Amino acid sequence: MKILLVSGEVHPYSKTGGLGDMVGALARALAAAGHQVGVVTPLYAGLRAKVPDLQPLGPAAEVVMGWRRVPMVVQTLSPEPGLTMYFVDHPGYFERPALYGEHGGDYPDNAERFVFFSLVAARLAVELPWRPEVVHVHDWQAGLVPILLQHQRLHAGWRRSLRTVMTIHNLAYQGLFPGWDFALTNLPADYFNLHGVEFYGQMNCLKAGIAFADAITTVSPRYAREITTPEYGCGLDALLRARAGALTGILNGVDYEEWKTSGNRYLPCAYSARQPAGKGKNKLALQQELDLPVGADTPLFGSVTRLTDQKGVDLTLGALEEMLGTGLQYVLLGSGSPVWEEAFRDLARRFPRQVAVRIGFDPGLSHRIEAGSDFYLMPSKFEPCGLNQLYSLRYGAVPIVRATGGLDDSVVDIAADAEHATGIKFTEYAPWALAKAIRKALALYAEPALLKEYRRNGMLADFSWDRAVAGYLRVYTGAAGAPSFHP
Ligand code: ADP
Ligand code: GLC
Repeated sequence: MKILLVSGEVHPYSKTGGLGDMVGALARALAAAGHQVGVVTPLYAGLRAKVPDLQPLGPAAEVVMGWRRVPMVVQTLSPEPGLTMYFVDHPGYFERPALYGEHGGDYPDNAERFVFFSLVAARLAVELPWRPEVVHVHDWQAGLVPILLQHQRLHAGWRRSLRTVMTIHNLAYQGLFPGWDFALTNLPADYFNLHGVEFYGQMNCLKAGIAFADAITTVSPRYAREITTPEYGCGLDALLRARAGALTGILNGVDYEEWKTSGNRYLPCAYSARQPAGKGKNKLALQQELDLPVGADTPLFGSVTRLTDQKGVDLTLGALEEMLGTGLQYVLLGSGSPVWEEAFRDLARRFPRQVAVRIGFDPGLSHRIEAGSDFYLMPSKFEPCGLNQLYSLRYGAVPIVRATGGLDDSVVDIAADAEHATGIKFTEYAPWALAKAIRKALALYAEPALLKEYRRNGMLADFSWDRAVAGYLRVYTGAAGAPSFHP
């Protein structure tokens, strides 16, 4: 098939979280399966130097945005057979220190930046000479593309069949902007209503995609069910219920070329499910790197996370207050809300021999934390898919997760299947519930033979992309049904 992906983040070019990982890996997996794939994404700061072989696409062009004509410059790159990157090159919008905002706030012109991005993507979808058959857009940053294409289809006399698919990676980020920004799209006002882009008087980019895409997916089967309920629906549950027939949940895969425990440039010591001994050495190296007392016998818990309410960081802080008395160690790499950053720094100051905190974004350290930790904490309030628990499984860090979204779909608790258990699950959103799960982890740690079995089960679990690619191909061809809606 011929597929055009559109995303505000694509690893290895840009990433603030799992969205970048997922789109980068999906693109490579589709290309490796023999499909023709294009990816439209912004040319962010630093990429011109990092990716020197960029080639400008075609002659100069413009898009009309509101009352302005804005130059449309696109740089291309073919990193591997079957895959072409289309970088939207507008230094004024995209060459900034961050992707979406700084100092805990969004850039004030995000509407303009991503309406422009969507206008360019919609033009490419129609004009690229290889004629994509499916346009697969990701999250709010590309949410306007299906509506722009629908408008062209209906009103510009353009008849080619082009299927649009929208993937929701996180319903909590909707791209909400003042209603007057809708004028930037140059769409007729009849799209700005209850059934279209409008949401309580504002422009809602994600809602536009959900309302107008031919098919909708999200990144785990359980989250697909959850988002149709008021509890998880972030105000869009009624629309999602109305579109339930077009909604499918497909669990993300892992790029095991990137997330591997042998031959990984970030790790001091190689290991595997068959030869697990090296994991212990990575633990000692991690304790040393983070200035914690080095001890093979001290249970080590880790997290790598955006520091936002979604990730249950309040539970982590509450449960650790209670559990640090047992002598366990905890390491955290994260960045996000200044309040949470300071709370974790404070915990590290109070427990310098047990808690190490690094605030920032550091891919190398994220691999070393997964490899060095005995247990991985992910007590999310909600989790569309979650990738870190999948990485933890492969790295032998037993995940402790709240049973929600993709966490519930990917981790096996002993209560569900004693023989195939890979992690520890809890349900209540409360610090005591996480503390209880940590107590279970400590009991597991005291039984090395059982711990070994958990690790082995996790390391051998297969979340490779083949299964997910098959799911997306069914959606691309219109063959996928809605997920079952039993609770
Ligand atoms: P989300 O996308 O909601 O943040 P995921 O678990 O799907 O959660 O993906 C998070 C991705 O971002 C993982 O690849 C994780 O390693 C990475 N990540 C998050 N925070 C950091 C950080 N501070 N440094 C390095 N990588 C990080
Ligand atoms: C979002 C979600 C996360 C998911 C990722 C990739 O960032 O929060 O759960 O794994 O997207 O799909």
